[in-house]
Amino acid sequence: MNEPKRKKRVVSGIRPTGPLHIGHLHGVIEPWRDMQDDYDCYFFIADYHALTNWSENMDVKKNAMEVALDMLASGLDPEKSTIFRQSDIVEIPQFHLVLSMFSPVGWLLRNPTYKDQVEQLKIESPNYGFLGYPVLQSADVLMYEGELVPIGKDQAAHLNLTIDLAETMTTKFGKLFPVPEYLHSEFATVPGSDNRKMSKSYGNVINIKDSEKQTTKVIKSYYTDPLKPYMGDPGHPNDCPVFYLDKIYVKDKDELGRIRKTCESGERGCGQCKAELAEACNNYLRPIRERRAELEQNPEKVLKVLADGAEKARKIAEKVLARTLKAVTIR
Ligand code: TRP
Repeated sequence: MNEPKRKKRVVSGIRPTGPLHIGHLHGVIEPWRDMQDDYDCYFFIADYHALTNWSENMDVKKNAMEVALDMLASGLDPEKSTIFRQSDIVEIPQFHLVLSMFSPVGWLLRNPTYKDQVEQLKIESPNYGFLGYPVLQSADVLMYEGELVPIGKDQAAHLNLTIDLAETMTTKFGKLFPVPEYLHSEFATVPGSDNRKMSKSYGNVINIKDSEKQTTKVIKSYYTDPLKPYMGDPGHPNDCPVFYLDKIYVKDKDELGRIRKTCESGERGCGQCKAELAEACNNYLRPIRERRAELEQNPEKVLKVLADGAEKARKIAEKVLARTLKAVTIR
């Protein structure tokens, strides 16, 4: 018998902290895009999670729309994947509340991501929602019977907690949802203009929605090898963020090889290198930017995608919630 194999369910989310940059594009959205044919994908905008570092001038609704535009323009396809906003699933806060009753505070206090962030961001009085971040994230995965979760290494501790929680619930109540697994994939960490990880908080980003001019300006400002102040000095492409980006944007392998060689020999200057990269980067982003501009003119199209996605996701959420409420004897 050649039954078509059931596709495994993939669930993953992204926090809408603003428009997405090329670090998100190559590190998260493109890997998601490439899973769409092989898995039954649920990709959502984690807008409640964005509240964990709330600030005065934050507009989560606007940011969620920016992220939706970026996602759709970058090739996430609503014909293939279920794309929605976390807050449109009214079952999520209910489910989260029940899960919280089975989440030991000790686990949450020990979560390395929590400890690191409290220290690094010098948070004096961390709030309850911040401590519970991984419980909400667990609700996100278990709510849609997620089997595989594609996330970067920085999220591994959260997923481990989800797995522990799912196992605890299964032991107590029998199977309410699958115990999910980590889906390994290559998550690129794209260097920003100061050679640190690309991040809005460092101000070192190239946004998908930026103009070509702005992109060129940022690329020209990129960190340059301090050991190569002049043309003629040998360069070190393996440690150079500009060469890292070349590896993404210069499609022709021979051309890439030539860049490496002429950099190492010193024939190539950094100014020329950056000008060529800016052109390659803008060429790559141009079709994405064009699609984005078009979608921006049709916000009702984007809202329809999110509404349809939420409707589909809620069908599963309702069942899982009903089953869970019954198991805990609320219903
Ligand atoms: N915490 C994730 C991040 O910051 C976003 C997220 C929220 C998520 N819920 C999720 C990722 C569920 C995977 C599964 O990147």
